Amino acid sequence: MKIGIIGGGGVGQTLGSGLIALGHQVTLGIRAPSAEELAKPRAQGKPLAEWVAATGGTVATMAEAAAGSDLVINATHGEASIAALSLAGPDTLAGKVLIDVANPLDFSKGFPPALSAEYSGHTSLAEQIQAAFPAARVVKAFNTIGAAIMTNPGLVKGEHDLFISGNDAAAKAVVTDLAHALGWKNVPDLGDLKGARAQETIVLVWLQLIGTTGGTLHNLHVARG
Ligand SMILES: NC(=O)c1ccc[n+]([C@@H]2O[C@H](COP(=O)([O-])OP(=O)(O)OC[C@H]3O[C@@H](n4cnc5c(N)ncnc54)[C@H](OP(=O)(O)O)[C@@H]3O)[C@@H](O)[C@H]2O)c1
Repeated sequence: MKIGIIGGGGVGQTLGSGLIALGHQVTLGIRAPSAEELAKPRAQGKPLAEWVAATGGTVATMAEAAAGSDLVINATHGEASIAALSLAGPDTLAGKVLIDVANPLDFSKGFPPALSAEYSGHTSLAEQIQAAFPAARVVKAFNTIGAAIMTNPGLVKGEHDLFISGNDAAAKAVVTDLAHALGWKNVPDLGDLKGARAQETIVLVWLQLIGTTGGTLHNLHVARG
């Protein structure tokens, strides 16, 4: 499959590498993919020129990454996701599965962050993305765990879960298959995209545990009676 990942940070790079290892063709979309920009150190992940050399993936504009793909992943800063996806282009997103990995987090008071006030409980970033791009088939997934775990769930021992939600059952099936291919066994479906409110909230547990344990290799598991 041709996959366009909007965002070239640690998440975009890690998901991109994992999906390329599965045989997919991946393009990372950033705002200004000049040679100079690709050589720059990034706050998360490596300089993109190194990522290209290591993986065989490509880097392009956000519009090019979305236009040339069968499936799109939003891996941008949560507060900039709608702007970034607008650069990707509403028409190119129409009819495509759009996996939303972003979290609308407010780091203004340091770590751990809070959920951005406008998304506290009554809506979610994923629902706002779906409203802004109604023809896209938005599935919230991969946002509740650290980037390394997304493509290597075996880093966490024992049973643990990758939550998904979305309004389109066929789109969720595509994402579930992709998750299984990446090694995920448990992919609980939280229902329609309102389920993203829970996903964007429970990431706070994952972040809080970084503060209390000093580690990042943890995740949640829902046990049933
Ligand atoms: N880090 C993790 O382990 C983790 C885990 C789960 C979920 N997440 C979520 O995944 C998302 C990506 O995280 P990340 O750490 O990889 O990267 P990030 O630093 O949150 O975002 C990087 C991307 O956002 C784009 N961006 C920033 N401001 C923009 C703007 N005003 N307009 C358009 N694009 C803009 C950047 O574009 P340019 O490249 O053009 O600068 C860059 O490609 C975030 O929402 C994060 O909360 C992260």
